[in-house]
Amino acid sequence: MVHVDTSSSRPYHLVIFGASGFTGQFVVEEVARTASEGPKGNLKWAVAGRSKQKLEKVVEQAAGVLGKPELRTEVDIIVADVGEPDSLAAMCKQAVIVLNCVGPYRFYGEPVVKACVENGAHHIDICGEPQFLEGMQLNYSGEAAENGVYIIGSCGFDSIPADMGVLYTRDQFKGTLTAVESFLTVSSGPDGGCIHDGTWQSAIYGFADGHKLQSLRRKFNHKPLPTVGSKLKRRGALFFSNEIQQYTVPFMGSDPSVVKRTQRFVAEEHQATPVQYGAYAGIGGIGNIIKLMFAGMMFWFLVKFHFGRNLLIKHPEFFSFGMFSKAGPSRKQMEASSFQFAFYGEGYSEGQDPTQGKPNAKIRAVVQGPECGYVATPIAMVQAALTILNESSAMPKKGGVYTPGAAFAKTTLVDRLNKHGVFFFFCLFVCLFVCLFFLKHLLICIITIQWFPPF
Ligand SMILES: NC(=O)c1ccc[n+]([C@@H]2O[C@H](COP(=O)([O-])OP(=O)(O)OC[C@H]3O[C@@H](n4cnc5c(N)ncnc54)[C@H](OP(=O)(O)O)[C@@H]3O)[C@@H](O)[C@H]2O)c1
Repeated sequence: MVHVDTSSSRPYHLVIFGASGFTGQFVVEEVARTASEGPKGNLKWAVAGRSKQKLEKVVEQAAGVLGKPELRTEVDIIVADVGEPDSLAAMCKQAVIVLNCVGPYRFYGEPVVKACVENGAHHIDICGEPQFLEGMQLNYSGEAAENGVYIIGSCGFDSIPADMGVLYTRDQFKGTLTAVESFLTVSSGPDGGCIHDGTWQSAIYGFADGHKLQSLRRKFNHKPLPTVGSKLKRRGALFFSNEIQQYTVPFMGSDPSVVKRTQRFVAEEHQATPVQYGAYAGIGGIGNIIKLMFAGMMFWFLVKFHFGRNLLIKHPEFFSFGMFSKAGPSRKQMEASSFQFAFYGEGYSEGQDPTQGKPNAKIRAVVQGPECGYVATPIAMVQAALTILNESSAMPKKGGVYTPGAAFAKTTLVDRLNKHGVFFFFCLFVCLFVCLFFLKHLLICIITIQWFPPF
């Protein structure tokens, strides 16, 4: 049984670990902005990391940006280093929830998860590395359950919009939803945009270690999930999507892995119909295809070798055609950027048997929001944490290692995100199917009446 202790037994509701990182600084600002949403309108929080000086600078910066000079004196600083287990334990003992922004997680993540599990702190990260996320599930589910601790991974842009988006689509669908494809489009303003080097490094090591993921998955010994409805066909490696009117490739991030784990959880724990899922990302026109092919080939080749990885890490801008940079995006670039996920779902309308015939209804849902990496990610991470603090009764009864969808399916996280600029909405296409159904029957009636007139 989990106890989310928001009383005074731990000094801080939230501790932001890695607050001095590129993403960490924006998580600090988001926490300061939403402090009134904490338990009883009062959030107690601190920043943590390995350099006191850097942490002081981050708090100073947040005080300036938000016009909240009181932060300089009110926000406590905890010095903790991933390489020093005692410092991690001391940090975790003081926190109800640790917001872990220290990555790449494959290198730095496990000691933090371990310290949280052993010291009774819940853990939220913004990891987009399936190998780490699934590895933590394999290694810590039992102990986290015994200790009543939630370890909830991928609570940033990877993969809250996709994971909660599929659940949202399912919840809006009147009937049994059986398959969803998502199409991601990202747009930036006149000054362009980019992603910080921290994510580039996570991607490099993730690809280099890709082969280990398969052997890790075999250890779960999972039975295949049942396929309900038509089997979702995989699209090609590159195709023109009529849905988003641009060239599109399979989405390479953690979303498919996270969504699949959530669907397994809802099928096994809630006896719900699992939704098949395919994730795609728009890349634009022919010019971008050529760039992507060059960058992809160089990346594919270099990532296999030690020297190649060093080269990629040294020159992110060159090898990614400016998509990643050591400086990260400017605030101006971030303000002008946004994302949209379009979810196209199909299934069986109410009263239709999902084991008989083809799906007869469709739905389109959308999740859209601000810049993904450093605006939407802090919003998602902080709202996930506030959901644990404020809605513990709607969270899973048992501790464990969870995906966002598994942890937050029964909470109001989607409503909270809507209030903070990450919007979820939908439109149904059932009508079209119903019209076609009636048209077909009308024609049959007309023909029947003509051949066999009633008088
Ligand atoms: N889910 C998403 O959509 C999303 C979005 C953004 C970022 N991310 C992920 O978040 C992670 C961080 O990205 P970033 O761009 O913010 O990277 P970053 O700027 O390099 O930040 C890394 C942080 O880790 C800290 N750190 C490194 N080694 C440490 C150690 N031994 N002990 C304690 N702290 C240590 C650094 O501390 P110092 O400041 O002292 O060096 C820094 O605070 C990456 O894994 C990235 O992929 C995910």
